[in-house]
Amino acid sequence: MFPKIVVCGGRPLKGRVRINGAKNAALAMLCGVILARDNVVIDNVPDISDVRHIIQVITHLGVRVSWRKGDTLSINVPALRMREAPYELVKKLRASNLLLGPMLARCGEVRIPLPGGCNIGARPMDLHFKGLSALGARLSLDKGYVFARASRLKGAQVYLDFPSVGATENIMMAACLAEGQTLIENAAKEPEVVDLANFLNGLGARIFGAGTDVIRIEGVKELGRSVQYSVIPDRIEAGTFMMAAVATGGKVEIEGVIPRHIQPLTAKLREVGAEIVEGEDTLLVQRTDEPLHSVNVKTMPYPGFPTDMQSQLMALLSVTPGTSVIVENIYESRFQVAQEYRRMGARIKVEGRVAIIEGVPRLFGAQVRATDLRAGAGLVVAGLLAEGETEVSGADLIYRGYKDFEDRLIGLGADIRRNNAVGSGLAFGEKSDIGRRNITTRLE
Ligand code: EPZ
Repeated sequence: MFPKIVVCGGRPLKGRVRINGAKNAALAMLCGVILARDNVVIDNVPDISDVRHIIQVITHLGVRVSWRKGDTLSINVPALRMREAPYELVKKLRASNLLLGPMLARCGEVRIPLPGGCNIGARPMDLHFKGLSALGARLSLDKGYVFARASRLKGAQVYLDFPSVGATENIMMAACLAEGQTLIENAAKEPEVVDLANFLNGLGARIFGAGTDVIRIEGVKELGRSVQYSVIPDRIEAGTFMMAAVATGGKVEIEGVIPRHIQPLTAKLREVGAEIVEGEDTLLVQRTDEPLHSVNVKTMPYPGFPTDMQSQLMALLSVTPGTSVIVENIYESRFQVAQEYRRMGARIKVEGRVAIIEGVPRLFGAQVRATDLRAGAGLVVAGLLAEGETEVSGADLIYRGYKDFEDRLIGLGADIRRNNAVGSGLAFGEKSDIGRRNITTRLE
C-alpha cells in the first residue's frame, strides 16, 4: 500500500477536536501485560497501526487480546507459549523492544530481534542492557537477535547515563518481579512512564517515585490483581492539532487533555504569539492578529520541549518572520523533514543538530515524502498552511500514530483527503484489521 494524503492549504481550522489515548503509553502497557496473572482491561487505547502491530506480537507469544467497544481492550495471559518474537512482526515496530523486561521477569528468557535504527537515529539499546544486566540477566547478541536469560532477577541500583524512556520502562517492568529493591537513577520522567507505573501498580506492583529522577521498585512474587485502566491522553497528538490551529490562523478547542503534560509546548507557542487558554481538560488555541515571533527551541527529555513535536514546530517557524533556531538534543538525525519543507519554499539550514530557519511569507504546495511519523504530521501541518495543493506520500507512517487524522482535520474545516493505494492491496482507508483478524481467530 502506498497511501498519500492530499491537502489544499489556506483554510483556518476552527472547532473542537477530542484527543485519543497516548500511543507511547498504550504500547508500553501492552508489553507490561506480559506480567499480569489475572484479567486486564485497558480503556482509551488508540486504534492505530502501531497498537495493532504490538497486539500481533503479544498474541503470537500467547497473550489473549480482544477489542471491545471502540477503544477498550480485554486481555488475559493464561500462559506464554512462545519465548521468541518473530522478526517479521518486530521489524514493524521498535517498541517491541519493551518486551525484554517483562518477558525476562515472567518467564526467565526471551529472544527478540534487535530493533533496527530508523530515520531519526541509531536508536541503541545499551542502557536497556546495562539495567537488565544489573538485575542479573545474561544478554547476548546473535545473528541480529537479543537473547536474554535470568534464573532469578535481583534488585539493583541502576544509573542511566541518559534518561531513556524505553530503558526506564524495561528496567521498571523487569524489577517488578525481581527479588528486593531496585533504584533507577536519572530515570525518564515522561508522562507515559508515569502512566505505565500506575498501570503496573494497579496489577499489584510496588513502584514509587515515577515522574521523578529516582524510581524505586520493591519486587513482588507476582502481579496477581485484575485491573481496569485508562490510558492518558496523547500529548503529542494534542500538540500536533495545536500547531495546526496556530499555523492556519484558526481557533481550535482541544478536548480531553492534561494541560500540565503539554506545558512545554504551550509555553513555546505563547512565545511564538499564539493565545492559549487552559481549562481543566481542554486547551483553547488561537492565533491573534499580531504577527508571529521567531523563537529558539531545544528539544530535551520531559519536562523539556518534546522531540516528537520538533518537526511540527519547524513547519510553523518556516513562515514565522525572523530567524528561529531549533537544537535537536535527543536524536542525531531528526531534521530530514527540512529537505521536504525546502521543496515547499522554506529556508532552513541544517548544521548537525542545529536547524536555522529563516521565516518566509508563505509556503507553496508540493509533492513531499514523510520520512518518519512526526515528520509526516509536520508535512500535513505545512500543507495546511501552504498556498495550493500538497501531496504527502508515506502516509502509512502517519497512521502509525494518528487515528482518523484526515477525518478529524476535515471536522475542523481542512480540505484534505486520502489517495487510495494504486495496485494490489486494500483500497486505502479500509481497516485492514490485521491485528483484529488474528485476535478474532484466536478467540473462536
Ligand atoms: C520513546 O522512544 C518514544 N517511543 C519516542 O517516540 C520518543 O521520541 C522518545 O521516547 C523520546 O521521548 C515510544 O515510547 C514507543 P529513548 P525511546 O530511549 O524509548 C538514546 C514517536 O514518534 N538512547 O528515550 O526509544 C537514543 O539514542 C516516537 O512517538 C541511548 O543512547 O527513546 C536517543 O537519542 C519516536 N541508549 C535518546 O536516548 C539507549 O539504550 C532517546 O531515546 C536508549 C536510548
